[in-house]
Amino acid sequence: MTTSPQSFDLRTRPFDTAAIRADFPLLARHVHGQPLIYFDNAATTQKPQVVIDTLQQFYCHYNANVHRGLHALSEQATAAVENTRHIIQRFLNANSANEIVFTSGCTHSLNTLALAFSQRYLRAGDEILISTMEHHANIVPWQMACQRTGAILKVIPINDLGELDITQGLALLTEKTRLVSLVQVSNTLGTINPIQALITAAHAHQIPVIIDGAQAVAHLPVDVQALNCDFYVFSGHKIFGPTGTGILYGKQQWLEKLPPAFGGGDMIETVSFERSTYAQPPHKFEAGTPNIAGIIGLGAAIKYLQQFRFADIEQHEQQLLLRANHWLAQTENVQLIGNSSHKVPVISLYCEDVHPHDLSTLLDYEGIAIRAGHHCTMPLMQRFNVPATVRASMSFYNTLDEVDIFFTKLKQVRKQFQ
Ligand code: ALA
Repeated sequence: MTTSPQSFDLRTRPFDTAAIRADFPLLARHVHGQPLIYFDNAATTQKPQVVIDTLQQFYCHYNANVHRGLHALSEQATAAVENTRHIIQRFLNANSANEIVFTSGCTHSLNTLALAFSQRYLRAGDEILISTMEHHANIVPWQMACQRTGAILKVIPINDLGELDITQGLALLTEKTRLVSLVQVSNTLGTINPIQALITAAHAHQIPVIIDGAQAVAHLPVDVQALNCDFYVFSGHKIFGPTGTGILYGKQQWLEKLPPAFGGGDMIETVSFERSTYAQPPHKFEAGTPNIAGIIGLGAAIKYLQQFRFADIEQHEQQLLLRANHWLAQTENVQLIGNSSHKVPVISLYCEDVHPHDLSTLLDYEGIAIRAGHHCTMPLMQRFNVPATVRASMSFYNTLDEVDIFFTKLKQVRKQFQ
């Protein structure tokens, strides 16, 4: 039976890991003859059957372009896309669905903002404040903006636990700061940053704040009005939705003020060879045909997630983290990169005796999917003076047994190098 995003029952579903796992067909597969342990959720999450069904339904029954045709299929596709906009509005507690822009991912959202800000709001000598633990997607677009405008990138340092140095961060907010762009949850460390305090401090200087929520939205409830951030961005595929989908939330007054970053179909009001005028937000920022199926699938993913209470998800994920920390306390010669007491279940390890890529390959033979490398956070690797880490990133469908197997296999695999 197929399900549409509209047909979920939003009553709180009991938190039952076995039942949740049964919703994700891929979790039942074997890899190299072993039951899969999927610990690469910070890279991408698996998809529940309802998301897969929603994509199939779209292509089988109402595939059409949006906002263009007056025919039935186009109207149905348009309604489904706009329904997702409302789902995301409620999910983030945005004030209006017009504050929700569809993009192809978090990287696209951040680049859109960097382009828009550098056209109108950044000048030589202005400062943009980020942090040491940013993903490359929240570094490189701002470096490019600096190259275009002469603005300067400033970086909030972190301590040895992998936490923001708030005192330094506050000191870096000056009359030259035009923009703060910070990650809410680090993809490499798992650290949950105290963004509320920084948003309040930035606003005291009238500085707008962008929050990169890519690694937060699948783990924590987000309320953009309570946070009072000016922008909030995330990717659909990290929250059980399809790849190629992303969200750019912006306060209405900012979306109205900012120029569009990209031109083309759907983002205009009128076009002549002399000049064009632009549509109102959010369409002003949505040039070209969007990822229609993906957006509708993202709506299904969010609805799926909303069956659960975030308090239950957080409680389960903290148990996973506790179990991992219990194992780590008994594991010798391993450096845990990111040791904050306030983190999501992400474990980044550096073992002196074996290269992270070798560890990852050998664990893959055991059916365990983890990521090895710099995790698109090269400055963070430099801060901790390691070339790379192995990262186990867990989600609400992972189990304590999987954590036990991971550490048991890790021990066995490392023995081969001793
Ligand atoms: N940003 C993704 C990760 O952390 C790709 O793996």
